[in-house]
Amino acid sequence: MIKNIKIIGYGSCTPSNVVTNHDLSEIIDTTDEWISKRTGIKERRISKGESTSSLAIAAAKKALNVAGITAAELDLIIVATSTPDCFFPSTGCIVQSEIGAINATSFDLAGACTGFVYATDVAIQYLKTGRFKRALVIGAEVMSKIIDWNDRGTAILFGDGAGAIVITTTDEKKITEVYTKSDGTKSEVLKLPAVPIIDMYDNVKVIDRSIMTMNGQEVFKFACNVIIETIDELISKSNIKLEDVDYIVLHQANSRIIEYVSNKVNINIEKFFMNLDKYGNTSAASIPIALDEMYGKNMLKSGQKLMLIGFGGGLTWGGILLEL
Ligand code: UT7
Repeated sequence: MIKNIKIIGYGSCTPSNVVTNHDLSEIIDTTDEWISKRTGIKERRISKGESTSSLAIAAAKKALNVAGITAAELDLIIVATSTPDCFFPSTGCIVQSEIGAINATSFDLAGACTGFVYATDVAIQYLKTGRFKRALVIGAEVMSKIIDWNDRGTAILFGDGAGAIVITTTDEKKITEVYTKSDGTKSEVLKLPAVPIIDMYDNVKVIDRSIMTMNGQEVFKFACNVIIETIDELISKSNIKLEDVDYIVLHQANSRIIEYVSNKVNINIEKFFMNLDKYGNTSAASIPIALDEMYGKNMLKSGQKLMLIGFGGGLTWGGILLEL
């Protein structure tokens, strides 16, 4: 029997080190005015020793605490990340060990900035089929590890952090609709090569650090289009109108993208939660960090409908419409 699912826990953790636009303007050829106007970002958290795993563990512990369950009750841990501490053990296994989730299956999922939506979708499918009952889904990144600090077009955008949710099966009737897509033909637009790149036979190239490259304008246009597509698909799959959705939580990349979408679908900007001014773009972590902040502000109530939408490298995109 297909089960209903609901979110029962939220958590997040960001590094304590705040880097303002002004701070960045001292090491990069940029200004607070340019960054604020073009992106809406005012500051971001940059790791000073915190790892992707340590941020994920802290976010996980908070989410479990809110959910009121023990780690041993988890059946599944998925960590969405493009900046893991290790290829293996996965961040999921590191989290599992640290929190004592002795009964869980744990793994990582690489979906770039769409990673949290993809990971939540995978967890939902496991729960709906009855295979598992309780899942911990985490988005965690230390983007500062992979930023080219000489590229002012990307360096100003990103930040570090982790967010987590606990989801469970429920007997209550709840809406859950999912829409996901990818387009691998556009992989060059946003790219993070693995390290090291070594060709043994000729053109030997060893790089000591993996660096992200991005065509900002292309990603901007892509994001605006696929967010509208995702909203349309989720609404057409459900029996509700867009006006019935309480909050739309978009991947926090640029306030101009969010404003464009708000105008295009004619939904008040107040319904689009935004915290990118404080954290910048934390890739797979941005949506769960936003959810935890909304939870902390008492914005989330049972019965509310939320739309979560991610987009990013791959190219990848997708969304989830769910009822709290
Ligand atoms: O999570 C993955 C998703 N990533 C995104 O969603 C990123 C989407 N793209 C964007 O958010 C925007 O394209 C950016 C914020 C990255 C760039 O904004 P833009 O309005 O597209 O600027 P641009 O690249 O067209 O550059 C405009 C000008 C250029 O100068 P000229 O050629 O007009 O003289 C750039 O060199 O702004 C210059 N510029 C900067 N100036 C000061 C680019 N970056 C900076 C900077 N500070 N940091």
